[in-house]
Amino acid sequence: MDSGIAETAERFIRSFYEGESTGHDYWHSIRVRNTAMSICDTEPDADRTLVAVAALLHDVDDRKLGGDWKNLPVAAGFLRENGVPEDEIQKVKHIIAKISFKGADTEVPDSLEGKIVQDADRLDAIGAIGVARAFAYGGKHGRPLFDPSSRPRSGMSEEEYFSETPDSITHFHEKLLLLRDMMNTSEGRRLADHRHGFMLEYLAEFDGEWNGRL
Ligand code: ADP
Ligand code: NI
Repeated sequence: MDSGIAETAERFIRSFYEGESTGHDYWHSIRVRNTAMSICDTEPDADRTLVAVAALLHDVDDRKLGGDWKNLPVAAGFLRENGVPEDEIQKVKHIIAKISFKGADTEVPDSLEGKIVQDADRLDAIGAIGVARAFAYGGKHGRPLFDPSSRPRSGMSEEEYFSETPDSITHFHEKLLLLRDMMNTSEGRRLADHRHGFMLEYLAEFDGEWNGRL
């Protein structure tokens, strides 16, 4: 793939997400690309253009926005219109199709590039940004910050994971605290360790304040 396609993809997602009220997904995609590039710096065998393009396009067909996450028509259409060869389009689609979190049905990507993009996407769900995103998501879906009666579910299937939106603190236990141990690359693991530690500190503070102890 010609390296210029990554810049074209960045311009494409800017206009693609313009109509979206929050702008969250544009910046999420940019952060995922940036983190993925940092991981690439430690993985000399990775195809950087493939990683950048897959990272930038990974959510344009997101199921939560009503996209067709199986056929990925938006991502594939963009690549086709820009003259990317069919075998390269398949590689990008293959990466995007494998990276999302589906509870116990989550898949490990088979290519190095897929592993890098998956790590970068997951890193954006944890740490300080992850905390902010969890409460933003919960608020948008009318969920409370915390429901003390709720019990985190474990070993959820893909269907269970997508069937119900819990309160935001429970989401930490059902997903965010599991991500560190699901990292594929050593640089991803290093970054996740730091972000994980921050979340634990955050949760301890939250608990202390909730119970009037701090
Ligand atoms: P990604 O873009 O990493 O695939 P998702 O589209 O699954 O992430 O979710 C977007 C953001 O919202 C993530 O940071 C995720 O952790 C968060 N989120 C998803 N479900 C919930 C929930 N039930 N409560 C709080 N936050 C959630
Ligand atoms: Ni994402």
